[in-house]
Amino acid sequence: MSETNKVDEAPVPVEGLNHVAIAVPDLDAAVAFYREKFGCTVTKIVEVESQGVRMAYVKLADAKLELMEPLNEYSPIAKFLKRNPKGGIHHICLTVPDVAEAADGALVAGIRVLGDGKPVKGYEGQDLFFMHPKDTLGTLIEIEEPEN
Ligand code: CO
Repeated sequence: MSETNKVDEAPVPVEGLNHVAIAVPDLDAAVAFYREKFGCTVTKIVEVESQGVRMAYVKLADAKLELMEPLNEYSPIAKFLKRNPKGGIHHICLTVPDVAEAADGALVAGIRVLGDGKPVKGYEGQDLFFMHPKDTLGTLIEIEEPEN
């Protein structure tokens, strides 16, 4: 199959990869692992109450790894770790030029936006949303705007 052309006016116009998120049972151990074994720079750890996680980012040249540990047993990450006790890839995050427009576009295109259909706040207060994996080929996809 040949490469396809970019569609103008796609409902969720993806431009890049922001991060791949990994659920971990022990965030401090995961941070130490990436620092010591792989020599990576890792950001400070932040608690994101609204998402029920403690998290940090492993900085890579062109994207990040998001390490997430559940804050409590009600966290969606706690449920994930019940099924995957050693942790594992949880979601990918793609970037769009405008998060609010992309959330509306997803809904119009029949892709469910988790929560109340509106963007929520992330690690540094940035807007983001998640799409239902049943509507996105089985992968949980987060949408953000690029940093800077
Ligand atoms: Co994420």
